[in-house]
Amino acid sequence: MIKKGIILAGGYGTRMSPLTKAVNKQLLPIYDKPLIYYPLSILMLAGIREILIIVNKGQLIQFRKLLQDGKRFGVKITYIEQKKPVGLPDAFILGEKFIGRDKVALILGDNFFYGQSLTSKLKKCIQLNTGCKILVHPVKRPELYGVAEMNNRNKIKSIKEKPKKSKSNFAITGLYFFDNKVIDYSKSLKPSKRGELEIIDLLNKYKKKNKLKSEFLGRGAAWLDTGSIEDFYNTSSFVSALENRQGLKIACLEEIAFKYNWIDKKDIKESINFYGSCVYSNYLKKL
Ligand code: G1P
Repeated sequence: MIKKGIILAGGYGTRMSPLTKAVNKQLLPIYDKPLIYYPLSILMLAGIREILIIVNKGQLIQFRKLLQDGKRFGVKITYIEQKKPVGLPDAFILGEKFIGRDKVALILGDNFFYGQSLTSKLKKCIQLNTGCKILVHPVKRPELYGVAEMNNRNKIKSIKEKPKKSKSNFAITGLYFFDNKVIDYSKSLKPSKRGELEIIDLLNKYKKKNKLKSEFLGRGAAWLDTGSIEDFYNTSSFVSALENRQGLKIACLEEIAFKYNWIDKKDIKESINFYGSCVYSNYLKKL
């Protein structure tokens, strides 16, 4: 069972400058809450309560101000500053102490997931015994992502990072589940031509040992991008459309924690005080 999760919230977000000049991308709004709430909610929905957030150098204060130690929503958050972004597998080298002898999930701080059967899928993924599990989802432009080519029995044939021409439209989403070997494997990686440790090389280490498994997110689920300003806008519209229609919030961390019995009414009241008078607090009041 996986009980620990890492959110990688580093990166410079250069494609979104000037928005990201002074503020970390993961703190920018997706409709009514900061982007980081969404990946955090995914780990929480999976049942993961020990969380490490990796942030850029100098940005720890902002994240702490917002999420504190996580107690407000029933989880334990610790933070590590990354000197500079040197590739996704660096998360496991920086997070070695946090991971200890356990297994771990990694979610990229800019990934947005939504869907009816998502929670049961997540609960299945954290049951991982050995190896690595990835989630794949079809996209129109696979060349922008890590891509998995599947054989006719839906097993992974090959994986490639941003291939110019791809035989498959299955992107590898930014949510991964690993056994403890991930630390040693990450340490053994050599930087690629662009000078970074590559997630695809790490996944290929598992593949070589026949330990890379995949799961389809499923057609009813949404995996949206927040890479560009246009993506931010579209993802915000998606959240706005659903929330305003249904009157239910997506990624309300306190609501998830309350439903899972991780916090009680008193804690919700504390959150309301913390946020002050706002739409989000009004929603919490209704809980
Ligand atoms: C990263 C990974 C890629 C994955 C994507 C998911 O790419 O390298 O394999 O498909 O995240 O969001 P990036 O978005 O950092 O370019």
